[in-house]
Amino acid sequence: MRKRSVKMVGATREGDASQDGRAIVTRQLRKEFDDLVAVDDLDLTIGKGTLYGMIGPNGSGKTTTIKMLVGLLKPSSGTAEVLGERIPLKGRISDIGYMPQEMAIYTDLTVSENLQLFGSIYSMGQERLLERQEELLSMVDLSDRGDSLASQLSGGMKHRVSLACAMMHDPEVLFLDEPTVGVDPELRMGFWHHFDDLKARGRTVVITTHYMDEAVRCDIVGMMRQGKLIAEGSPRDLMDRSSTSNLEDAFMAFSKGVAE
Ligand SMILES: Nc1ncnc2c1ncn2[C@@H]1O[C@H](COP(=O)(O)OP(=O)(O)OP(=O)(O)O)[C@@H](O)[C@H]1O
Ligand SMILES: [Mg+2]
Repeated sequence: MRKRSVKMVGATREGDASQDGRAIVTRQLRKEFDDLVAVDDLDLTIGKGTLYGMIGPNGSGKTTTIKMLVGLLKPSSGTAEVLGERIPLKGRISDIGYMPQEMAIYTDLTVSENLQLFGSIYSMGQERLLERQEELLSMVDLSDRGDSLASQLSGGMKHRVSLACAMMHDPEVLFLDEPTVGVDPELRMGFWHHFDDLKARGRTVVITTHYMDEAVRCDIVGMMRQGKLIAEGSPRDLMDRSSTSNLEDAFMAFSKGVAE
């Protein structure tokens, strides 16, 4: 296996994709399901410390891309590196966190037990684990629900627990697949303040969303359509290049090929 030495750096410039500043690189990454091409020779570079938003219609390949990067799906062809290691990750696996689009908590455990389970997978010490549990329960506004069975939470609350679980071990790279679906507007904005904090600490966050008011808060937005990246840049840059005033219109313009 080819290994690239990666110097650990703190917060980097937005979208810094210099050799040492790269968190994720894909080259011609491809996934086919029978005759369906879900991800079509994707070349992606995401700098460390970047809040990267992936947007695109249902079925455009966002989840499939993330699943390949976290090792849940084997690419049909192409390669990718996360934190300098080729996928599927081995050494760096504990440096990533993943919140799947589907529900990913144990409903027969309590909220706290779910968090502790995720923390223990990453061999967190008891003291740190409890400290982190408290922090995250507060972040997702469930401090008073630690002892509730997950099965007894509302849909949005389960989603919030799932996000907290992915963040327990404070990973360097966090993949969040539609983390704010079903979360009420006020809390949604609270999450984004937290994502900004993560970025300020040099963490890389890859996030998929269908909410344009969220995408616009990302440093870099990658627009996907039919498994391809049709445009990429800062929200401002994408709107300028397409002479539009919002990302929805910008997406349409890039889709129709009337912007470059
Ligand atoms: N396990 C699978 N088997 C067959 N086809 C699949 C599988 N997983 C995904 N697909 C197909 O791959 C394509 C891309 O799906 P994917 O889930 O990556 O889209 P997405 O961009 O995440 O969409 P959404 O916004 O709805 O979450 C879709 O056509 C989907 O039906
Ligand atoms: Mg998806």
